[in-house]
Amino acid sequence: MDKLRIVGPCRLEGEIQAAGAKNAALPALAASLLTEETVALSRVPGVQDLRTMRKLLEHLGVESSLSEGVLELRHVVPSELDDAPYDLVKTMRASVLVLGPLVARLGHARVSLPGGCAIGSRPIDQHLAGLEALGAEITLDHGYVTARTRSNRSGGPGRLRGARVRFNSPTVGGTENLLMAATLAEGTTILENCAQEPEIRDLGQLLTKMGAQISGAGESTIEIEGVESLSGARHTILADRIEVGTYLIGAAMTAGRVSVRDAIAADLAPLLEQLTECGCEVEIGDRAVTVARTAELRPRNIVTAPHPGFPTDLQAQYLALMTQATGPSTVCETVFENRFQHVPELRRMGAEIEVDGNVARIKGPVQLTGAKVMATDLRASACLVLAALAAEGESVIDRIYHLDRGYEPMELKLHLLGTERRVERTS
Ligand code: EPZ
Repeated sequence: MDKLRIVGPCRLEGEIQAAGAKNAALPALAASLLTEETVALSRVPGVQDLRTMRKLLEHLGVESSLSEGVLELRHVVPSELDDAPYDLVKTMRASVLVLGPLVARLGHARVSLPGGCAIGSRPIDQHLAGLEALGAEITLDHGYVTARTRSNRSGGPGRLRGARVRFNSPTVGGTENLLMAATLAEGTTILENCAQEPEIRDLGQLLTKMGAQISGAGESTIEIEGVESLSGARHTILADRIEVGTYLIGAAMTAGRVSVRDAIAADLAPLLEQLTECGCEVEIGDRAVTVARTAELRPRNIVTAPHPGFPTDLQAQYLALMTQATGPSTVCETVFENRFQHVPELRRMGAEIEVDGNVARIKGPVQLTGAKVMATDLRASACLVLAALAAEGESVIDRIYHLDRGYEPMELKLHLLGTERRVERTS
């Protein structure tokens, strides 16, 4: 099992290229199920979750090929292949994003219920309630959810029907599933209280290129006028604000200076404002966003929230940063119920953190020391890498398959930031 060995402390200094966003590429791949024509995607990140999604789509009759950085997908025949099996879904919850496209295009879909994961139970009740509102019949059995449209007059699968759907709380995946399903529904769909993450804006742009009639993707209310069919399209996935944010926090963590090319500053606003408050220098250039820290790090509290709030996917990384701040701070996690798995591992490196419900209280500054630690989930792994870079001595981070799910090989980008002899992947 791969490990990362890091000898700190070492400053991050240099420039790297932002990867395409994992959380925009996953729904974009699922959108290929909505048409029989070719969808060609550029800047799909080379991460495990996308390899898993390609495997799942192949199982569903989608052929895909990657050449010169363009991933081409084609749902060759709308066959009976509509089953997303547990052994694939359990490794990646985002598999549930095939549900909306399949039931909208084929009239039926059978997807294994995703299990919970380290950060929470993560139900999909809002996805299912929304599809029911669009006319799908939902049944749950043997760990699978089956969605089926009512038969049409000739006995074949009918179409979904447009409806008004109000989410009881913003859900990224739920918004994406319903947005995709509504593009082929009969009539108008209004989605209210939607998640507003930039990845949803990006999905809306792809679907519009495919011929969908959408207004408001990325805002709280989205209106979709259903069409009979969608065509293929070419699309470049937007830059990954969470990957970029992770490396910019690394600059603050190590009192270094990091520039990330193609970063979208507007998507990073909650983090950039916070880092400025903490005393970092933030430069927004034409081609890159840069963060540097030369002064003391001021402690600043955060509360995570759906976009445009502080992203929960940067909570662990920011919490690690606050161990270096000159004074106490709190981190409040409001999106997931169990997203402090990184705290016990940080404590092993000398951090002084108390968790009380969904609030972590951090004492700083603390000189972290290298230790053997274990990754538990994707963003917790990234947090441990940042802590190891700031710590004195050797750290070995185990189970970094978590990291590889959502980050292009981190050691390669860290080497570009001046850590060649300090960071290595070992087994
Ligand atoms: C997406 O997950 C992201 N994953 C997550 O990123 C991210 O943390 C999350 O959005 C929040 O921003 C992808 O885009 C692939 P939600 P998703 O539905 O869609 C509850 C990462 O590190 N909920 O917005 O699963 C849910 O339990 C990953 O890249 C329901 O109760 O998140 C959670 O508490 C981790 N019922 C909250 O809503 C539902 O039907 C937000 O979940 C759906 C969600």
